[in-house]
Amino acid sequence: MTDTTNAPDLTNPPDLTSATAAAGPGPGPAPVAFPQDRTCPYQPPPGYASLRDSRPLARVTLYDGRVAWLVTGHEAARALLADPRLSTDRTRPGYPATSPRFTALRDSRAALLNVDDPEHHAQRRLLVADFTLKRATALRPAIRRIVDERIDAMLAQGPPADLVNAFALPVPSTVICELLGVPYADHEFFEEQSRRLLRSRAPEEVRVARDRLHAYLGALIDRKLAAPSGDGVLDALVHEQVREGAVDREEAIALATILLVAGHETTANMISLGTYTLLRHPERLAELRADPSQLPAAVEELMRLLSIADGLLRQATEDVEVAGTTIRAGEGVVFSTSVINRDDDVYPEPDTLDWHRSARHHVAFGFGVHQCLGQNLARAELEIALGALLERLPGLRPAVPDDEVRWKPGDTIQGMLELPVTW
Ligand code: HEM
Repeated sequence: MTDTTNAPDLTNPPDLTSATAAAGPGPGPAPVAFPQDRTCPYQPPPGYASLRDSRPLARVTLYDGRVAWLVTGHEAARALLADPRLSTDRTRPGYPATSPRFTALRDSRAALLNVDDPEHHAQRRLLVADFTLKRATALRPAIRRIVDERIDAMLAQGPPADLVNAFALPVPSTVICELLGVPYADHEFFEEQSRRLLRSRAPEEVRVARDRLHAYLGALIDRKLAAPSGDGVLDALVHEQVREGAVDREEAIALATILLVAGHETTANMISLGTYTLLRHPERLAELRADPSQLPAAVEELMRLLSIADGLLRQATEDVEVAGTTIRAGEGVVFSTSVINRDDDVYPEPDTLDWHRSARHHVAFGFGVHQCLGQNLARAELEIALGALLERLPGLRPAVPDDEVRWKPGDTIQGMLELPVTW
């Protein structure tokens, strides 16, 4: 499979001369470049193959030439992701970055993911009740309605269709809008800014996108403050926290931004890439069609295999010992979920799509205090979206040869750029 969009970014070549002892770990095998582009969207890049022989830790070179630890072993990953000596505060000097995008956003007001406890815990407490399994289960009929509307529209228009724009993106986008109380009518605006925030390599473009999203969500929060109307998560946040002075306006904007962006882009990528992966495994697909009760297990296995959020970032605040190696205070630590979730000590034949194994304990939603807040919602959306596609479009198949299918580059959340399908 070839894809020119996945070519290395020559405008930002790594500066290997700037790697310093202070910037990264000591001697050992030459560091592998991280991240790299996938050459098959559901397999890790071939350049990560040697990392499997370096468990539980390897050394990698980041885009800016700095060297960091890469966590590759499953047991070590769960221990380190749960370790409070690893910070997610991206304003710390020397905090690792896997793209110029992260460097551009260093000084933005962060919420949840890029703040440490106790501030993180206080923010998470405000939202956790909105994202429980019970809440996700209660949302299932609404998710099914949204999914059916999209399939109705695809059927009405007739084949072919781009599954990304006709289905995979609008479904989670509509769901998160209804849940948060954001008008879906604005979806083109916030989807475009989110795309720039998550994919642009031009720091100025990234900052402009962030500022536009903040201005948009700030105005929405102000409207909600002025005139209580909806019953979304942001309405409750505004009325119970901002109005009472417990959360300031800037913090509310930062929270709204992460919920809106993380709430649609990630799940959209899983729907598009999950569908593509199933279409490329016809026997598995037939099995699922014959027995949809296997869907929850299939979704979990797809989460493990696809590991779309590949490269979680941390920095050690103190020396941390792991499997006989010391990660020194100040060193950057990156978690490759695609390598960790293929640790063959935990998952036999890890490259095979097989949901009869137990994919439990994968780290595709992270682990520890920052483990994905939206995971119950994401699972419900994936089960309903994939299940409805199989049920209502039994002839679903790619409309173009494999070498014309385009997916996302390695330095962002993995997924399909477009997926032309017919049925
Ligand atoms: C299949 C879809 C999704 C995937 C693969 C995914 C993946 C992840 C991962 C790996 C993390 C942890 C990052 C880290 O530790 O560095 C995370 C955190 C987070 N996710 Fe998701 N996510 C998905 C869907 C969602 C949805 C639907 C929402 C809804 C709002 C959401 C909201 C968040 C938030 C707020 C955090 C930060 C939590 C914290 O720091 O306490 N995610 N997600």
